[in-house]
Amino acid sequence: MAWSSASLLVFLVLLASPYLGCSYHTSYTHGGKHYTVRSNRDPRQPQQSCSLQHSEPSSSADGVPVVHRLSPCSPLGNGARKQEEHPSVADVLRRDALRLRSLFGADNHGSPAPSPLPGGGGSDDGVSIPNRGAPIEELPGAFDYHVVAGFGTPAQPFIMGFDTHTTGATLLQCQPCAANQPCGHAFDPSASSSIAQVPCGSPDCPFHGCSGRSCSLNNTFIGNVSFVTDTLTLTPSTTIGSFRFACLEVTPSDNSSGVLDLSRNSHSLASRAPSPPGTVAFSYCLPSSPGSVGFLSFGAAMPMPHKAIYTPLRKNPDNGNLYVVDLVGLRLGGPDLPLPPTAIARDTIVDLRTTFTYLKPGMYAALRDGFHRWMSRYPVAPPLGGLDTCYNFTGLDIFTVPTVTLKFAGGADVDLSMDEMMYFSDPKDHFSIGCLAFGARDDTAVIGSRVQMSTEVLYDLRGEKIGFVPYRC
Ligand SMILES: *[C@@H]1O[C@H](CO)[C@@H](O)[C@H](O)[C@H]1NC(C)=O
Ligand SMILES: *[C@@H]1O[C@H](CO)[C@@H](O)[C@H](O)[C@H]1NC(C)=O
Ligand SMILES: *[C@@H]1O[C@H](CO)[C@@H](O)[C@H](O)[C@H]1NC(C)=O
Ligand SMILES: *[C@@H]1O[C@H](CO)[C@@H](O)[C@H](O)[C@H]1NC(C)=O
Repeated sequence: MAWSSASLLVFLVLLASPYLGCSYHTSYTHGGKHYTVRSNRDPRQPQQSCSLQHSEPSSSADGVPVVHRLSPCSPLGNGARKQEEHPSVADVLRRDALRLRSLFGADNHGSPAPSPLPGGGGSDDGVSIPNRGAPIEELPGAFDYHVVAGFGTPAQPFIMGFDTHTTGATLLQCQPCAANQPCGHAFDPSASSSIAQVPCGSPDCPFHGCSGRSCSLNNTFIGNVSFVTDTLTLTPSTTIGSFRFACLEVTPSDNSSGVLDLSRNSHSLASRAPSPPGTVAFSYCLPSSPGSVGFLSFGAAMPMPHKAIYTPLRKNPDNGNLYVVDLVGLRLGGPDLPLPPTAIARDTIVDLRTTFTYLKPGMYAALRDGFHRWMSRYPVAPPLGGLDTCYNFTGLDIFTVPTVTLKFAGGADVDLSMDEMMYFSDPKDHFSIGCLAFGARDDTAVIGSRVQMSTEVLYDLRGEKIGFVPYRC
């Protein structure tokens, strides 16, 4: 997209240059095709200096810095060493399956299945606490992206995941911790001058069954869950007073301290962070590679109309906490992909913790078959851990794939980059096995985090719409 005829020149120059070394690739897009060309020049950006301040909430021009779990800049540390922990496709698909089951509540015995507590269920203010296992999944990369947020007065900084579909509350490990749990990164309520217990019976207490003075419950699987309010510091200039969150005595398995709730719940950050007229409630840009830094911002000015494209948010009567849009079609290589009306899901969830994108079977089949026709000159590779539309690009000097565009209601056509639409067996070398990063699902379609990378996704809750600004980080 960003490349046009100038890129064609670059392409021709690349074709003419000798492939000394030949160990890199260059990608660009022109006329409905993504080109990948073998190159002897390292196209990667110089390594970030990782000057992020993890000891306190920080801000960049765009908001709170967001980094990938495997980034050398990750506040979880040792990012470079963790490169080998890169999850396999099978791991990612398994994690996606768990996530999809918990999104749709069809799982009554898997570990992350939420069990609605009294006062929970489908209501906007309901809270579901996992009924078994850890509240945060065990597989590597449970939360791929993290930020630093401060709780209490003075602010105690913690590394937090963030999620648009949560159990209905921001979760934070607090002291005292359970006896068998690490406690080095837990909030210390006694060191905060602004902390308050939510009283049992208060409208802010989702546990209608609690007894005693405080809004707390001893959950069989994760122990004491206790609701408190305190000041939340997102950036030095963005604070939220009396922010309600749930104190847990257990630690998330990804070594962070908790999860920020960005759902549509009335206690979520999306609802509580200041957002004056002319601003969006929140937006994020997920970094496109572990080496780069994205952002999470609250109450940022709405971008100029020509910069962002918008699609209306749909109401979801089953779960008011979800962000649902209408995916009306696809384009492949430029033109619309012909689709039978039954292939269109209408309700499509925008999710942060599903990695791949799942389409209704009819839409997926049309994409797979259309892609397959385009790609007939390339050797087909066996399925990769469940992704079934794969090609072997090993040994080639150049290859082209048709671009995929997601068409949302309201004319929001989102073009996907090569890394957003394809998964490569070697993420650093496209001359490996490349598969369409999509899957099929019977009921509701889900837009995963992979296709959102490098695009700023704006949540304009006042205007009831979601916007996209491509190539933003
Ligand atoms: C949970 O912990 C809080 C804070 O330590 C305490 O006040 C509350 O009584 C505990 N609740 C239960 C059910 O154990
Ligand atoms: C909470 O429940 C656990 C497990 O059922 C039990 O061992 C523990 O003593 C309980 N704690 C309180 C404060 O009731
Ligand atoms: C969490 O930290 C511990 C101790 O530093 C380490 O052994 C473990 O691998 C870490 N887990 C993850 C998921 O990074
Ligand atoms: C891909 O192609 C290369 C070169 O032709 C071959 O050596 C390799 O085994 C193929 N890999 C797969 C998974 O088909």
